[in-house]
Amino acid sequence: MSQQNPRPKSPGQSKRMKSTPPELQVPFHRASIGEEEVQAVSEVIRSGWLTMGPKTFEFEKEFAKYVGAQHAVAVSTGTAALHLSLEAAGIGAGDEVLLPTTTFTATAEAVTYLRARPVLVDIEPVTMNMDPEDAARRITSKTRAIIPVHLGGQPCDMDEIHTLARMHHLRVIEDAAHALPSEYRGKRVGQISEFTCFSFYATKTLTTGEGGMITTDNSTVADRMRLMRLHGIERDAWKRYRADGSWFYEVLEAGFKYNLTDFQSAMGLVQLAKCDRMKQAREAVAQRYSDAFSSFDELVVPTVLPDRRTSWHLYALRLRLDRLSLDRNNFVQALHRHGVACSVHFIPLHLHPYYQRVYGYQIGDYPRAEQEYHSCFSLPIYPGMTDREINHVVGAVQTTAAEFRIVHTNVAHVFPSA
Ligand SMILES: Cc1ncc(COP(=O)(O)O)c(C=O)c1O
Repeated sequence: MSQQNPRPKSPGQSKRMKSTPPELQVPFHRASIGEEEVQAVSEVIRSGWLTMGPKTFEFEKEFAKYVGAQHAVAVSTGTAALHLSLEAAGIGAGDEVLLPTTTFTATAEAVTYLRARPVLVDIEPVTMNMDPEDAARRITSKTRAIIPVHLGGQPCDMDEIHTLARMHHLRVIEDAAHALPSEYRGKRVGQISEFTCFSFYATKTLTTGEGGMITTDNSTVADRMRLMRLHGIERDAWKRYRADGSWFYEVLEAGFKYNLTDFQSAMGLVQLAKCDRMKQAREAVAQRYSDAFSSFDELVVPTVLPDRRTSWHLYALRLRLDRLSLDRNNFVQALHRHGVACSVHFIPLHLHPYYQRVYGYQIGDYPRAEQEYHSCFSLPIYPGMTDREINHVVGAVQTTAAEFRIVHTNVAHVFPSA
């Protein structure tokens, strides 16, 4: 099977540019951590209670309130959140689960943990989210669940996804790793579906270093996930080393070790309190970028649909490759030479060796995802960006677009009629 997943060229392979060192280096991400987080974590460490305990339960309560859900279950990663949700939904060997090809491997990997099959779906080109019509075409008698991924923070069309799910009795598990805080038709992500999975990985909009949360209004699945996140031992087992706890516990299931620690939760509580403010800061960066780039014919700025609000976890810029004399990889390298670090979200899953080898996916299977993949990249966007950094990114992108612009010469003008 051919694998032509293009790899970025090394700097030496691409067109040489002026090599004066950039006056400023803008990293792709810088976590927004202040003294408050340091204080909160230190207090927990000094308390001597390091693992899951009262801080974690407080974080769960506040998080549930923030997104407007009945229950929040804190876990060690966003991947664990997906795994526990799928397990609580009863997904098992031979089942099929729909998910977009444009996502991080964790979305599909969690499906494989249960020996179910990730069925990849193409994207719609405006939001780059899963296309519900393509999802509908891929439903079989084995399809049990659907995992919409809110790419970069912009929610998927959840009404269409829920309609599809109702028609075919599918469980809906949102991958909201990028979507805190985001909204769909006036509802905050976290209160829309039976399961919503968040990630608190280092680069996410709320971070605890590593961490995750599942929100749900279904108390049966919440209880199941609480049981399974801690070895399948009954709920109060975490207390067994406390003075008021009991040494006795019973194992009810073969569970997992997926609990979040109290010092991570203490950090999460501080981050949650600043979540709205951090989102406003990212929104201001996005606005500056879109204002600066929308007049460039070579660039396509992100469209936020009128019924959605994005967290702006990512700012994905797309290139009109027909108007530029360099490709996306070389554009990203040019920005790198200007001191601007970028990333690409994501290499579609069907282009990765694992998904090709095990599930038979091939290059060409998802044409819209491939087309957007070849033209998109993500710019730095985080609350702590300084004006100078934002201006530097703007300048680097504009300069690169202008430098590699294909000028369409008017033939009549070049060869005036005699
Ligand atoms: C779309 C998506 N889903 C799931 C995850 C997994 O989250 P975590 O790294 O917390 O396990 C990520 C992480 O980057 C992600 O981007």
